[in-house]
Amino acid sequence: MRFLVLGAAAGGGLPQWNCGCPNCRDARSGLIPPATQSSLAVTLDGDVWAVLNASPDIRMQMQRCPQMHPRALRDTPLASVLVTNGDIDHIAGLLSLREQTPFTLFGTSEILGVLADNRIFDAVSTQKVTRRAVELDQGFEILPGLAAQVFPVPGKVPLFMEGDQVQTDLVGEQTVGVRLSDGGRVAYYIPGCADVTPELLDRIEDAGQLFFDGTLWDDDEMIRSGTGVKTGRRMGHIPISGPDGSMARLQGLRAGRTFIHINNTNPVWHPDSPERAAVRASGWSVAADGMEIEI
Ligand code: MLT
Ligand code: MN
Ligand code: ZN
Repeated sequence: MRFLVLGAAAGGGLPQWNCGCPNCRDARSGLIPPATQSSLAVTLDGDVWAVLNASPDIRMQMQRCPQMHPRALRDTPLASVLVTNGDIDHIAGLLSLREQTPFTLFGTSEILGVLADNRIFDAVSTQKVTRRAVELDQGFEILPGLAAQVFPVPGKVPLFMEGDQVQTDLVGEQTVGVRLSDGGRVAYYIPGCADVTPELLDRIEDAGQLFFDGTLWDDDEMIRSGTGVKTGRRMGHIPISGPDGSMARLQGLRAGRTFIHINNTNPVWHPDSPERAAVRASGWSVAADGMEIEI
């Protein structure tokens, strides 16, 4: 199983168009590498690929990855796309895949319902792009020989569907993680997760590799940095640090561990930051665009 990080950043990317925070400034000036929005590609043979979440940057992501280029007049090595929630950074890229080339689009009924309710996605022809609803905890083949399963993780409805009251610990079809298995190795991809529950810990025990929500270092990072008014948990993202953070909660896991979906305010972007040293000391790597991991 080979993974290619198409986009390591959370929604907005690094730098984010309207952000002058220190990380965004450093990314603009070339001090740290920029990163595109949340997407992970996986393959078994290098010939056909599945993309986990279609980010608004998918056109550029596929353009700079030779393995994803067409091999004929109209063609793509992209066999399938799976979306893990209905957030803009995970679905908007579907609009860039609308040019009548077939692939399979996997998502839960609820997430596919978000697409059905937003008519702009009708541009992605259902004649060509088969939308396949997948049940929680039911196996399906995302690529030939690669078994997948989606499972609920604590989260919330997409930002653009929030009402006055927002429940951030919904466990159902609106936010899922993905288990991938080639029959031997097992990997998990969980780019959005509000809490690491005992159930989740039990579930991912067999992981060889885990890609996990690294949105924020601190729960109140956006408030403190003056870039936002919400905590990470309010946004549906458990912070990395602290006694209840993902790093502490996932400490016992033997898998290779990689933070992905990283917000532009997160200090782990800086290779020489103490926060980057802390995650590395804990056995984690920090995703970067173009990073490849094979298990
Ligand atoms: C998130 O991960 O919290 C969302 O992508 C936020 C957004 O839609 O911008
Ligand atoms: Mn996001
Ligand atoms: Zn910024």
